Amino acid sequence: MIPVTPLSTGRPSILATEISERLNAAIREHLLAAFAPDNTKSLRTFSAPEVAELLGVSGQFMRKVHAEGTVPEPRDIRGGRRYYSAQEIWESRGILEKASRRKGRYLPRRSGDEKLQIWQLMNFKGGSSKSTTTIHLAHYFALRGYRVLLVDLDPQGSLTSMCGISPEIEFDGLTVYDAIRYDAPSPMRDVVRSTYFPGLSIAPSRLILSEFETESAVHSNPDQSFFTRIRNALEQVEDDFDLVLMDSPPQLGFLTIAGMAAATSLIVPLTPSMLDVSSTAQFLELAGAYMEVIEDAGATLQYDHFKFLITRDEPTDIPSQQLASFMRALFQDRVMSATALKSTAISDATMLKQSIYEVVRSEMTRATYDRAKRSMDAVGDEVERMIHQAWGRS
Ligand SMILES: Nc1ncnc2c1ncn2[C@@H]1O[C@H](COP(=O)(O)OP(=O)(O)O)[C@@H](O)[C@H]1O
Ligand SMILES: [Mg+2]
Repeated sequence: MIPVTPLSTGRPSILATEISERLNAAIREHLLAAFAPDNTKSLRTFSAPEVAELLGVSGQFMRKVHAEGTVPEPRDIRGGRRYYSAQEIWESRGILEKASRRKGRYLPRRSGDEKLQIWQLMNFKGGSSKSTTTIHLAHYFALRGYRVLLVDLDPQGSLTSMCGISPEIEFDGLTVYDAIRYDAPSPMRDVVRSTYFPGLSIAPSRLILSEFETESAVHSNPDQSFFTRIRNALEQVEDDFDLVLMDSPPQLGFLTIAGMAAATSLIVPLTPSMLDVSSTAQFLELAGAYMEVIEDAGATLQYDHFKFLITRDEPTDIPSQQLASFMRALFQDRVMSATALKSTAISDATMLKQSIYEVVRSEMTRATYDRAKRSMDAVGDEVERMIHQAWGRS
């Protein structure tokens, strides 16, 4: 424990510094405990029914391919039950895909002329569930065999820490900033790191990323326009991924706009409250103005999809339901059909820096877990359909 001594009663500047030091020390200690002993996060195993669902096959089919020896048994078998690591699921996909007549049945990755999907989640309202939605989508797609790259554009790095990299514990690796800075940028390939989650990589963030805001404001070389920086960085690693998911900071600065210029689709998450809806209106007014500036500078912006997602949806709360209906009436299919339900299962999981997909069902109230997972699956499924549409598959 950290010794708790009285805070100073003197000047506010000293008090603020003391509070910050105490908080940082406590956070560091808490995180070290959470990630102990070697600071790495690991992923749970998945039960046979979960794996069958992920692969879109029956339990009987899995038993058959194991018995035939087509797919090796998982290493972890307890009491006659099979438990698969995500790596084993990933490998099973490869084996089944080779044996399958229908291409893409088990490995739905992009091919040929299907272009890299770059989805940005943005809204300048903090707490609109940008980071939570981003990590859930990332896990949804990685578990389904897609190669996913997360780009953390928030200097606060919440996505980065969800990936088991703690900006708070002196993480000194390269960040997105290094790839997009104006002066001697690093290759994006050196910035991207694989994570403990098979199929998921991240271009991490930490506070230094906010330098990009300051530098872009004074930068004047038109050959290095700020809005080309993220796009150029992503082009360097394009071949390694099917889907890029970008989380945004809670403001409409150079980072968010540079993200917008790189994106192929946008999602604006919003919670159904009057305050959020009106701040989203302001956000889009500003975003529209900036998009015009970028286009005037010669870039073309074209989005396959540009959607609202209702987050922290509360089906039993009448005012919020009215507001959700109001949004649907105004914008029709611009509002995604699926919503992310407000759920203690989600908030409890994120407190442990996990998504609902990382939680073991038996460790939660089943009904609560099932509702939350169903809702996140529905959001993932709808995005997956939009991606396939962008690829011209559907
Ligand atoms: N569907 C949800 N159900 C319950 N709590 C949620 C849900 N989505 C987000 N939260 C909580 O709301 C808070 C803010 O979410 P976050 O994703 O960090 O928002 P943003 O990135 O837009 O600032 C977090 O503490 C998170 O646990
Ligand atoms: Mg966030």
